[in-house]
Amino acid sequence: MRVPESLVSLVELGIIEEVIRPLMSGKEAQVYLVVARGQECVAKVYKEANDRTFKHRSAYTEGRQVRNTRDRRAMKKHSAYGRQKEEEGWRDIEAEVIFRLRDVGVRVPEPKEYIDKVLVMELVTDKNGNPAPRLADLTLQQEQAEELFEGLIRDVVKMLCAGLVHGDLSEFNILAGEQGPVLIDFPQAVDASKNLNARKFLLRDVGNLTRFFGRFSRGLRNLQYGEEMWALYERGELTPDTPLTGRYRPKKKKTDVSSLLEEILELERENRERREALGLPPARPARQPRPKAEEKPKPKSEKKSERPRRRRKPMPKPKQTPKQTTRQSAKPEQRSEANRSSTPTPPTKPRRRRRRRRKPGTPSS
Ligand SMILES: Nc1ncnc2c1ncn2[C@@H]1O[C@H](COP(=O)(O)OP(=O)(O)O)[C@@H](O)[C@H]1O
Ligand SMILES: [Mg+2]
Repeated sequence: MRVPESLVSLVELGIIEEVIRPLMSGKEAQVYLVVARGQECVAKVYKEANDRTFKHRSAYTEGRQVRNTRDRRAMKKHSAYGRQKEEEGWRDIEAEVIFRLRDVGVRVPEPKEYIDKVLVMELVTDKNGNPAPRLADLTLQQEQAEELFEGLIRDVVKMLCAGLVHGDLSEFNILAGEQGPVLIDFPQAVDASKNLNARKFLLRDVGNLTRFFGRFSRGLRNLQYGEEMWALYERGELTPDTPLTGRYRPKKKKTDVSSLLEEILELERENRERREALGLPPARPARQPRPKAEEKPKPKSEKKSERPRRRRKPMPKPKQTPKQTTRQSAKPEQRSEANRSSTPTPPTKPRRRRRRRRKPGTPSS
């Protein structure tokens, strides 16, 4: 096929020898089947910002470190240069994550080259050598589903131990390779210790896996691996081999009062020493809460029955007019008027109907 614009520079550099066909167009990228260094590979070309559909990107980029001060400032200001740098960072992260995950034993496509916004990587294939299907394209047997689920949960644990959360993990971003499932698509991956949304993304990732595999094995549906592994990770107790049960009960936190007091005293001591070193007078003690006005103790001996009885004032009975007894019966204008004013409208005296005297000789109606 004709070489697409985005791959021309890689062909000129001799990295890509042939572009066979487009493989897939996802929400973030266009993926081509190519020949690179004599092997069938995949070339992932990232779409321009306007052509993408990935939402709420800032939630993912939060906490990412930008070493270059100029770039960091420009990104904060959202200047044209800053946006370009942000764009590059988004793309770079995939290559970086793939390299990191490969090193910790998570199954990812072998990265080959990352140049000019294009990631060239191993083509994941099925047992016939064709591009591997996504898990979403398969129907699984119960046992098979349970086995795959277990393996993938272990991959998520390994990722978390490497300080990463996928952020978009689901049956659509896992390929069913000949040797087993392979995770793909990482530009939105987040740093587990720096991104405030990391826990939320992890729970969603694991929730997606639980829901998908739960379709083939009901027993998996109630497992809570996400919560369990995050709790262990937060306590610094998660290792790639930590056994998990899928059951999770949040531990009630006990407040260690004595160590809390010790910490407060330590802080006070530090503060005092700092002020002394600076030649400042000692800090004023914190304002004490005002003592409450003394309450007169009630005589205990007095029994309830012995106390003088207060007489309740009888409630005044509402005057009722013969015709217009309640507000509901008033006309709409009167009603709204009555609702507006806080004082009740005095009851109007009923008008007496005057009986007309029939003149003698007129017919009755
Ligand atoms: N290494 C690979 N081997 C085989 N197919 C791949 C590979 N990488 C991507 N694909 C195919 O391309 C599709 C889109 O790739 P993905 O990385 O998920 O991009 P997007 O961010 O656009 O979803 C995948 O669903 C898969 O079918
Ligand atoms: Mg994808």
